[in-house]
Amino acid sequence: MRVSSFPADLVVASNRGPVSLVAEPDGSLTPRPGGGGLAPSLAAALAGTSAATWVAAALNDADRQGAAGGSMASGQAGLLLRLVALEPDVLTAAYDVVANAVLWFVYHGLFDAPRRPVFDSAWLRAWEGFRAYNRAFADAVAEVAAPGGVALVNDYHLPLLGAMLAADRPDLRTVHFSHTPFASVEELAMLPHAAARELLEGMAGFGACGFHSARWERAFRRCASEAGSSVPETFVAPLGPDLARLEQVAATPECSERRRRLQERLGGRRLLLRSDRIELSKNLLRGLRAFDLLLAERPQWRGSVVHVIRAYASREALPEYLAYRSEVEHLAALVNERWSKRGYEPVIFDVEDDFASTVAALGSYDVLLVNPVRDGMNLVAKEGPTLNEHDGMLVLSEQAGAYDELASEAFGINPFDISDTSRALHEALVLSGTARSGRAARLRALAVAHPTAEWLQSVISHARAPGGRR
Ligand code: F6P
Repeated sequence: MRVSSFPADLVVASNRGPVSLVAEPDGSLTPRPGGGGLAPSLAAALAGTSAATWVAAALNDADRQGAAGGSMASGQAGLLLRLVALEPDVLTAAYDVVANAVLWFVYHGLFDAPRRPVFDSAWLRAWEGFRAYNRAFADAVAEVAAPGGVALVNDYHLPLLGAMLAADRPDLRTVHFSHTPFASVEELAMLPHAAARELLEGMAGFGACGFHSARWERAFRRCASEAGSSVPETFVAPLGPDLARLEQVAATPECSERRRRLQERLGGRRLLLRSDRIELSKNLLRGLRAFDLLLAERPQWRGSVVHVIRAYASREALPEYLAYRSEVEHLAALVNERWSKRGYEPVIFDVEDDFASTVAALGSYDVLLVNPVRDGMNLVAKEGPTLNEHDGMLVLSEQAGAYDELASEAFGINPFDISDTSRALHEALVLSGTARSGRAARLRALAVAHPTAEWLQSVISHARAPGGRR
């Protein structure tokens, strides 16, 4: 499904773009699909429509070369790409030090308060880098946006653009969308107060701010009013899976081959799957502990369920992520040591970032475990039921935005409670017959209810000029 009626002059901004550039041997630059789930889906929804430009950070050397040439073809019809070249220390300060090591942790409640965060003058300098990064994006958006156009700004990397664009381009209709949760008042108060104020005032400059769940919308409104900042118009627009892309990949010979290989490895056993980035908020450690408890307390599952963990590396520039990865790998090895027997390896830990394998696994699970400690939406919770062909059940954290829509058909869990998680895994494994197939069908209907293109339409319809003009 494509967007049919959005304003011709649309600028989308996000840290990571829909493509990254690759330098060919002849010196030319070719766009290739980039990482991450959101950008490729959004790009697909935008492609083939009237002119839209995507402004994104130049993340590699070829991107930086491409940035020098201004807007360029993205490889998708109707979508131009404008890469923003940043000084390496500005990019590190903005992306690693401020956005990922602090804002991400604050929004997902990940800090271990007795030890972290610690703010000092070095961090305040990094905040200046964050401001410079936002300024460079604001300048690029202001440069490419047509008079009266729409700017859709994504995520926690770019909150300051609202105030900047309201000052520089008051003719634009702007909207910000957070793909993350938002912090509680107490969590946001951890930030140096001037930074928190600048962040909230930056967001208040947008015509509207959108969230995947009413919970994150309420959290943001509370933070803004508690801080005495003005509260912009807010809205909720839950994102759904990119059906066309998923179905297209599921139909490829590569995917059939991956499905065949997976079935061979399972050898007729039940499949308990998780599919995530190696990311602290995804709660891989408690997931493994819940599986260990399942095998310990319910011997019938020893030898008859395999827990496949598809988890690809992310943000390894941050020491927390490297340490977390090794903890997860260590725990997976311990569970295997404890429960392996001849011909049975209970945990298969697969770090290969291969979309066809992910689609094959999502099509094949009996139970999908999605247990984040907090998550803006969690698209895997919807992609799984969309693709699954085995009447698969979903064990889902109450703290995922997706829970708002899927609660009635998922097995809801408190992600901190491994007994509760282990109980839900058992119940999801034993449910059978028409109770199971009916639940799987209803889950699928809920999961596909809001496709990407519908989400995009809804977000764009909320864009406003600073005075609230449509
Ligand atoms: O889930 C929130 C989100 O910002 C997505 O929009 C994006 O795909 C991802 O997190 C960012 O990850 P990375 O740091 O790998 O770009």
